[in-house]
Amino acid sequence: MARINTIEFKDNKLRLIDQRKLPVEETYFICENYKDVEFAIRDMVVRGAPAIGATAGYGVVLAAQEFKEGQREDFFTKMDDALDKLNKSRPTAVNLMWAIKRMKRIIRDNKDKELDNIYNILKDEADKILKEDIETNKKMASFGNEIVEKGATILTHCNTGALATAGYGTALGVIREAHYSNKNIFVYADETRPRLQGGRLTAWELKEERIPAKLIADNAAATLIRDGKIDLILVGADRIALNGDTANKIGTFMLSVVAKAYSVPFYIVAPTTTIDFDIETGEEIDIEERSSDEVTHVMGNRVAPEGIEVYNPAFDVTPNENIAGIITEKGIVRAPFKENIVKIKE
Ligand code: MRU
Repeated sequence: MARINTIEFKDNKLRLIDQRKLPVEETYFICENYKDVEFAIRDMVVRGAPAIGATAGYGVVLAAQEFKEGQREDFFTKMDDALDKLNKSRPTAVNLMWAIKRMKRIIRDNKDKELDNIYNILKDEADKILKEDIETNKKMASFGNEIVEKGATILTHCNTGALATAGYGTALGVIREAHYSNKNIFVYADETRPRLQGGRLTAWELKEERIPAKLIADNAAATLIRDGKIDLILVGADRIALNGDTANKIGTFMLSVVAKAYSVPFYIVAPTTTIDFDIETGEEIDIEERSSDEVTHVMGNRVAPEGIEVYNPAFDVTPNENIAGIITEKGIVRAPFKENIVKIKE
């Protein structure tokens, strides 16, 4: 089982495995205050929707740790400002906004208490978010495993594993579960340009656990699908609209189109914290555009000419009609999504 500790709060500091450097270097990034957390999310020290949410929870804890030492009358305004900054550290993964909203509610519900007390309650809540995410992932893994046939070859995109969550993973959690239940599965992992979450992180997790796999360039996926080499596609999500439209790592939409053309089942694996119950369709999802350096450079080395213009969206939206089902901790949601997604709201 994975020995990866993606997010750990210890001795009043948040320790994150530095995902910018894996697998070449296994080092940790220490957040001593909420601004470090804001930076860590923006710069992708930590990434993956559920991991970002859990990290932001501890960002709020670090803000409270800092501001409880000042004047009580300043505490709530300073906290509001810190929560707002954390909320904006990345725009697409809704788990971030979900976690901040949850922490905000805790502050509001306990506002008459001593600041030390509020801090302790916030810390308990952040611990709960982390713990619940692992439990949620195990439930999704179990539901997801039901649709994995013995001997299946599974294609996945980006990194949706222990690194992208509090532990175990979403799509990669289902893959883990299928592997550990001796289904003799085989995995193809897209390298996932430009940040190479597949090549660096998924490949690392698969290798650590000796799950039989091959890494492919993203461009090879369509050929494998056409040639009948893929039985199932499992990917994660950053935000799901009420009609099932799903934002995930750039390249997911393209995979879904090819999957549909060749009738390969295409599933999303995501917790209900990734569903945005406030938006009707994928058109309302804010798609993050990242720096041109991510495309002009590979691991810090320039590969494109100076001055070339770049388009670098970090996510795309897969339309609901390309999705066979959404595997959540409450079961598998299928079409008609518009009717069925609302049913799983708490
Ligand atoms: O830019 P990233 O690495 O944060 O994007 C991650 C993804 O797109 C994942 O597929 C998604 O967050 C689900 S992770 C369980």
